[in-house]
Amino acid sequence: MKIAIPKERRDGELRVAATPETVKKLIGLGYRVSVETGAGLHSSVADAQYAEAGAEIGADAASTLSDADIVLKVSRPMMAGDGFDEIALLPRGSRLFCHLNALSEPALVKALAERGVDAFAMELMPRITRAQSMDILSSQNNLAGYRAVIDAAAEYGRAFPMMMTAAGTVAPARVLVFGAGVAGLQAVATAKRLGAIVHATDVRPATREQVESLGGKFVVVDEAMEKEAETAGGYAKEMPPEYFERQKKVVGDFLRKADIAITTALVPGRKAPVLISADQVRDMKPGSVIVDLAAEQGGNCALTVPGQTVLHNGVKIVGNRDVSSRLAGDSSALFSRNLFNFIQFLTDREAKKLEINPDEALVKGTCVTRNGAVVHPQMTAV
Ligand code: NAI
Repeated sequence: MKIAIPKERRDGELRVAATPETVKKLIGLGYRVSVETGAGLHSSVADAQYAEAGAEIGADAASTLSDADIVLKVSRPMMAGDGFDEIALLPRGSRLFCHLNALSEPALVKALAERGVDAFAMELMPRITRAQSMDILSSQNNLAGYRAVIDAAAEYGRAFPMMMTAAGTVAPARVLVFGAGVAGLQAVATAKRLGAIVHATDVRPATREQVESLGGKFVVVDEAMEKEAETAGGYAKEMPPEYFERQKKVVGDFLRKADIAITTALVPGRKAPVLISADQVRDMKPGSVIVDLAAEQGGNCALTVPGQTVLHNGVKIVGNRDVSSRLAGDSSALFSRNLFNFIQFLTDREAKKLEINPDEALVKGTCVTRNGAVVHPQMTAV
């Protein structure tokens, strides 16, 4: 069976879906692997390294993808309207594994079904212990949380740690993290390592202990409402307007004193909640920096402009897109391992091919199209 790794073509997408390490492992499972020329360039992997690992190097997307049984990608394929029709190059009957953004892209999912591609949305991987090594959201958000702090430090015109010098003392930066999930916790840990004073807040009370174990201080907004804030799957629920009023008051005091705010709050399947209003930005100190990791999902700050850094009354608001691509070497390595672990899980070692049981929990959770139809329970309305 042939596995194809095409070059990523979306603007700002610098990652790649396989590394020489995972190519070797895929070949070890009995697959043939074809990597499009230049696919690893932005992740610091040359064609020669893939070839050394045993891959064939495809001259372009069409030849890489022709006859592929399995296609591994990072971002969802482009459609005709995106300037390059990747879907038209996916062989009928092939299986596609990538970050599909399926719940927000019903037209793309439909197009994949019509094309006869069985698509697996890696972002829908169930968050259960045995699937942790296949969880792209965790592996990528962890790096994004780290990068958010590094970006904030680069934009901030002062130091993070306290420094006692002969010329006087430099005060430590005060960092406030909104949302203490995977990205937020890594942001807490990174800002602590840089020597900042770190506070964090989240609707899920379970995060308190996690923040504190990393040396951060937890800001409780409303204990009673937070008791109801977590779904069975461990995600946040959408909060009522009263919660946001209270959050604005309680967290607002910390925000006025903060030098850096890192926002990471998301509710699956919804627009990101707005946690920092335009008025609150106006109340912040000049020179302070907001890094909004939710920029692509609408932003946690009302003044965020996705893809740009903007200045309001001396406050910089950083709305970088594709934050994982800002660490493409590491994010590609982890994403590739997540994909490999899933392929390995689905492979019949003796037959050296995928053996997909539609009733298996990880398959059920991720498979969005099969045999020309949209099959995912969360997408039946498509
Ligand atoms: P996420 O990316 O969906 O959201 C980020 C954070 O924002 C969450 O902690 C959420 O509670 C918080 N948030 C949402 N609305 C908010 C608001 N209005 N104000 C303040 N904070 C708000 O979540 P993420 O990071 O993907 O993971 C959430 C949790 O899922 C983890 O902490 C963990 O409990 C669980 N998980 C389980 C895994 C496993 O068992 N395999 C793997 C990864 C995560």
